[in-house]
Amino acid sequence: APPTMPVTLKVNGSTHRLDLDTRTTLLDALREHWKLTGTKKGCDHGQCGACTVLVDGRRINSCLSLAVMHDGDSITTIEGLGKPDDLHPMQAAFIKHDGYQCGYCTPGQICSAVAVLDEIKRGVPSHVQADIATAPAVTEMEIRERMSGNICRCGAYSNIIEAMRDVAGAKA
Ligand code: FES
Ligand code: FES
Repeated sequence: APPTMPVTLKVNGSTHRLDLDTRTTLLDALREHWKLTGTKKGCDHGQCGACTVLVDGRRINSCLSLAVMHDGDSITTIEGLGKPDDLHPMQAAFIKHDGYQCGYCTPGQICSAVAVLDEIKRGVPSHVQADIATAPAVTEMEIRERMSGNICRCGAYSNIIEAMRDVAGAKA
């Protein structure tokens, strides 16, 4: 039998304990063991962002991370951000601005978007940070740069940016 390890994760506020194959990715643990299928598997290689979740508030590609590395961590998936009758502001903004078409990339886009606005607030540098000094609020260029790890095959990018700028309180 493959080596297993006990892992305790707090997922969307409830604590789960499981013996997992040490090679299980966080993405597979969420989808297959915890049945949280909102988080999508696109490439499984860190190249599309569909699997983005929040770990203690910071975004990661869950396909690139082993579940056992997250013992004790607090994970938030799209299911935990908001509920249909109590949407997270970013979820509501994606609906308002048509920030999706097929929706496959959307859970990852929304988790990433929430983390991006937090990164900006915390002053985490980006390649285009120089623009902040001259441009009002959150610029489109900065959002594009920070969201560049989240691929959308449907090309909903400009609507995603509008949704994010709306939540950030930026002028259109
Ligand atoms: Fe993780 Fe594509 S599935 S980055
Ligand atoms: Fe279809 Fe983004 S909405 S891939």
